[in-house]
Amino acid sequence: MPVQRRYLAGFVVGCLSLISPVLRAQHADGPAAAPAGKNLTQLQNAPADQIGPAMQFISASLGVECTFCHVAGKMEADDKPAKKTAREMIAMTAEINKTHFGGRPQMTCYSCHRGATRPVAIPAVLESDAVVKPPMPAPPAAGATAPTAAQILEKYVAALGGEAAVRKVTSRVMKGSILAGGSETPIEVITKAPNKRVTITHASGSDSFTAFDGAAGWMGNTGRAARAMSASESGASSLDAEFYLGLRLAELYPQLRRGRPETIAGVDCEVLNGANAAVPTRPAVRLYFAKDSGLLVRMVRYAETPVGRMPTQIDYADYRETDGVKTPLRWTLSRPNGRFTIQIADVKNNVPVDDARFVKPAGEVK
Ligand code: HEC
Ligand code: HEC
Repeated sequence: MPVQRRYLAGFVVGCLSLISPVLRAQHADGPAAAPAGKNLTQLQNAPADQIGPAMQFISASLGVECTFCHVAGKMEADDKPAKKTAREMIAMTAEINKTHFGGRPQMTCYSCHRGATRPVAIPAVLESDAVVKPPMPAPPAAGATAPTAAQILEKYVAALGGEAAVRKVTSRVMKGSILAGGSETPIEVITKAPNKRVTITHASGSDSFTAFDGAAGWMGNTGRAARAMSASESGASSLDAEFYLGLRLAELYPQLRRGRPETIAGVDCEVLNGANAAVPTRPAVRLYFAKDSGLLVRMVRYAETPVGRMPTQIDYADYRETDGVKTPLRWTLSRPNGRFTIQIADVKNNVPVDDARFVKPAGEVK
């Protein structure tokens, strides 16, 4: 499959084009209760829709393709020794977590493998003269208090233009391009309050759709049947669809907690961590707000898999004001196995958008 398609397919949520036909059929069938695979010994109790993400996690942890362990088109076969080793490793990792970490998934394939098939056991020697370590950052001045999560959110909403201005906009139609693997493809992003969104990539000869209709997500390509997203994909997609994300964060994540501040590309950021155990499909998130502007510059969300958490990072940039509200016109989505950037060139607010545009087509996508 050409690289470009690999990045474009599974646009918002999951590089699904990498998943075997077996697994795709299961996705289409929907319910997580369906048997997850024909030959599972370690992951047999995992929800069917987590097998694909678990496999992506394993591939990313070892820095390999599926075929390192699998015979293409015959995922259930145990022909390759690496698959057998991997099965023992899944058991070993679970055992380490059970015995030493109270059952919490602290140790994963990545902890040892770090993107290589053979973990490194011996510390590396210095390859150049040791550099002088920068001095420790100065402790915060006496009397300085850290902002609370609520204050960080307040500053964010104020930076966007304030709640009243934000609520005056109820739909947004954006045109631009998606940049992936060195090529550029026209794209449209249509969003409507409170939480509808469709992204249409106009690839040559066929459009691809990624959408959230307000309740569930779907994906499709011109001339083929659309497919419903899995529950966890839908959960991730629903966050992208939140039209008033800044106003909704406290509600989506009632347990929002301030984390240790971090610097991203030279920008000092406040960090908030959110999880919502009451809504299992809502991904845990880490949000980075620039200390100076107050704006959201990064969101990392985590997809749970039986072998570890798969991260998706979205970096927001090029905030511009239209109709009194700031919106990022560039965002870069990065995962262990792929990355693309969307650059918006044209924004129109409050354009009437028919709800039908977000609905999953019953038959072929047109
Ligand atoms: C490092 C080895 C390894 C890599 C890489 C790997 N897998 Fe697997 N895969 C396994 C093992 C081991 C199992 C069986 C797990 C068990 O016994 O519960 C499995 C099971 C599966 C199954 C279930 C098959 C069935 O019906 O029994 C599918 C589907 C699958 N993998 C797809 C993939 C895809 C797609 C990729 C690439 C994104 C991938 N795997 C990468 C080791 C691997
Ligand atoms: C505690 C550290 C540790 C963890 C955790 C770990 N591995 Fe390993 N793994 C190793 C070591 C060490 C080797 C190399 C063994 C050797 O060289 O004989 C290895 C080798 C392998 C190999 C064989 C590679 C080859 O070249 O054939 C596979 C496949 C593998 N691991 C998969 C996994 C998977 C999948 C996970 C997560 C479920 C995992 N490992 C977790 C330490 C670990």
